[in-house]
Parts: sequence; structure tokens; C-alpha cells
Amino acid sequence: MKKISYQKSEALLARAKAVLAGGVSSEFRKYNHPHAIFYTHGEGSKVYDVDGNAYLDFTLSQGPLIVGHSHPQVLDAVDSYSRQGQLFAGQHIQEVELAEKLAQLIPSAELMRFCLDGSEAVQTAFRVARSKTGKQKFLRFEGHYHGWLDNVAWGISTPSVEALGDAENPNVYAWSQGLSPHSKEDFITLPWNDLALVEKVVATRHTELAAIITEPVMCNNGCIVPQEGFLQGLRAICDRYGIALIFDEVITGFRLGLGGAQQYYNIKPDLAIFAKAIASGYPISAIVGKREWMEEIASARVIHAGTMNTSNPTVAAALATIHVLEQDPDTYNRMFRLGNRLMEGLRAAAKKAGQDLLVQGPGPMLNTSFTALPEIKNYRDTLQTDKTKLKNFIAGMHDKGVRVIGRGLWYISAVHTEEEIDHAIAVSAEVLQSI
Ligand SMILES: Cc1ncc(COP(=O)(O)O)c(C=O)c1O
Repeated sequence: MKKISYQKSEALLARAKAVLAGGVSSEFRKYNHPHAIFYTHGEGSKVYDVDGNAYLDFTLSQGPLIVGHSHPQVLDAVDSYSRQGQLFAGQHIQEVELAEKLAQLIPSAELMRFCLDGSEAVQTAFRVARSKTGKQKFLRFEGHYHGWLDNVAWGISTPSVEALGDAENPNVYAWSQGLSPHSKEDFITLPWNDLALVEKVVATRHTELAAIITEPVMCNNGCIVPQEGFLQGLRAICDRYGIALIFDEVITGFRLGLGGAQQYYNIKPDLAIFAKAIASGYPISAIVGKREWMEEIASARVIHAGTMNTSNPTVAAALATIHVLEQDPDTYNRMFRLGNRLMEGLRAAAKKAGQDLLVQGPGPMLNTSFTALPEIKNYRDTLQTDKTKLKNFIAGMHDKGVRVIGRGLWYISAVHTEEEIDHAIAVSAEVLQSI
């Protein structure tokens, strides 16, 4: 078999480094195997690089490409609506149609505003929560990712589980130099999935708390589903103490269903963030929420703005993505079935190879990690998995043309096929034998 080469990407990376800081436009792109890769095109479930390598893509570009690369209906919609204009610094009909559609689909979406990405929309939600409650801090959970801006760039990069210290009063580590020291005062952190601990801490600190923010499934560190009653418990705590419950659905939105995790688990947050998969890779996100909370923005007590918000191509892409996902009523069942098929196949391959591979997740997204634990329940468990082995596994898969996110996260799209899932399982069987 031809040995895979990354020579042209390597040369381009060297060229890029002269003009792009670190050679990339987002830090995460550095962590590709064996270095940042340069791509030429994508189609359906495949993506191709400058060295002529083809990859079966389970990264879906970090999640957005839920209907695959270059879906013709999405591209046609973008093309045709862009020909009417790009951006009006004013309103247009399609954004109202998009908002009406999201209001039908997402249980808590009574009012909304559109932004460009998840990071921005998260900050908007904090502003709304502070304005309505008159309180300042938010409670967040260890290992949850809410974007790269100052007050959330903590608690996601930790040297070791020991370094986290006491669960009730954990240490948090900055992800970056240069953060405002005040940003650390914006939040308190707790381990996820421990309702009794949240109850205890909130009982004493509720007068400080404007919001509790959570990924409803902890996708960014282990693809961990909530323990029975955990999300319901958060809902009850927020109601009891007048705190906003914010679901960060940047990943779960459109992935567990068009109504997000809030529909899947039947729990209405006060505010929620949708981004990534809602528009197939075009920059649009939404902060949605109950009317009583979103009135903070409607009344202009809270200012939200943005020159580029709801540009024509982004709105057209979102409407077309929803249309594609809705046109086949079996789409979501298929994504769950394929995800389960992949999880079972990976587990069987690992068993045969004698590897402690833990595979978990709801299906449309799933995680692979190396550990003898039967289940990962929070970030502290994730930190104890074998990251070196994971790196070798992901690298081995990549060298054989299967692209998976470096931290072990896999996304299923509406265009993956059973044959492709079986191919990925067969490749994993070879790689698991060799690492
Ligand atoms: C759960 C979650 N929230 C927020 C963000 C930030 O979104 P963006 O990268 O669009 O700013 C991400 C990005 O990966 C995410 O996974």
C-alpha cells in the first residue's frame, strides 16, 4: 500500500508561517496529524488534501458539516441568495423566516438574536443573565468548552487530575496568556454530573450567581451524557434561586435533533446557544430563549450588535441546512443508527485487539478514549485516560484515510453510509492491532 505523504502540506505550512501566526487561522488546526494540513476540496463525507490524500471525514470540520461537504442544496441556496446582495446593514425577509423556523423547532426559542459564532453568542447570554438577575457570576463546569474569549478560557486545560484539587473549590487554569485577571472573577467552577455538589454550592452562593451554563451533553471532553436527573436538577435549582439556566447547544444543536438537547431531554433552559451545525459551515449562531429573558435585548437594556450579522449567505445556508435535514423523516434515526453501528464496531475491534478502548456517546457524536474505566462521567475521569495512545490511534487512522478529531471525538453526518461506517471499523481494527 502506498505510504501516505504530507509533503505539500508541510511545505505550505512553512510558507504560511511567514505570514500567518503559527501558520494557522485557529489554534486547534495546529493539532492535526502530523501537523496542520491544507485541504483542496470536500464532497459529501470526504475531504481531500493538497497531497492528494482522501479522508473519510468524521470531524465534519469540528461539527458544522452535518449534511456533509459541499451539499448542492446548501451551495445553490447560498449562491442564489448572495446574488441578491451580501449584507444590507438592515433587515431582510429570510432572517425572519429563519427565526420563525427556529422558533417552531427549538422548545425554548420564543425570541432570538443572530450572531456570527458560538463564542459571541455565549457572551451575549451572560450579558442577558446579568441584566435580568442583577447578579454577576456564572457557574460553569470543569472541561466544558464555551469558546475562546477571556472569561471562558479557563478550566479546559489542566496539567493533571491532582492539579484540580478539591471538587467543591477546584483550581482553574488559564488556557492562554494575556487573559484579563478580572475574567477569573466572573465565574465559579464545579465538576459536572454531581448534582448534590451543585446544590450544596449554589445554596451558599446563589446571591452571586446570574447563570448556570452547561453543555447539555459534555461533548468537548469525553462525549458524556448527563446522569439521570442532572439536567432536571439544574433546572430546579435555577428556578429556586432565580438563576438563568443556559444550555450551550453549540454542538448538541441540530445534532441530537432539530430541537437540540433541550428537546431530546425535554428540559427548557432559559437561554440557549446554537451555532456550528445550524448553517453547514457558514458563520451564523443564535442566542435563543424564553421571552421574559430575551426581553432584556428586545428592550435594549442589553445591547447586542454586529456589522456582519445575518449576511445573506449565512441565512440562506441555515435555511437550506434545515430543509435538507427535514426532507427525509428518517435522517436523525439514521444518524443514531450509524453512530451505534460505529460504536459497536469499534468496541468489538478493540476487544479483539486487546485494547482498553472506551467508546461512548449518544450516537450522532461519540468519543473514543483509552482507559480501563467502564464509563467516563466527568472531566476528572477524562484527564486520567491514556492520551498518548489516543494520539497514536488518531494518527494511525489518519494515515489510513479516516479523519477523526484529535481529542477522540467523532461526528456522524446525514450523508455517511453504512459501508463507510464499516470501512472505518475495519481500519480501526488494523490500527488497534498496531498501536
Ligand atoms: C460547546 C461549545 N460552545 C461554544 C463554542 C465556541 O463556538 P465558536 O468556535 O463558534 O466560537 C464551541 C466550539 O467548539 C463549543 O463546542
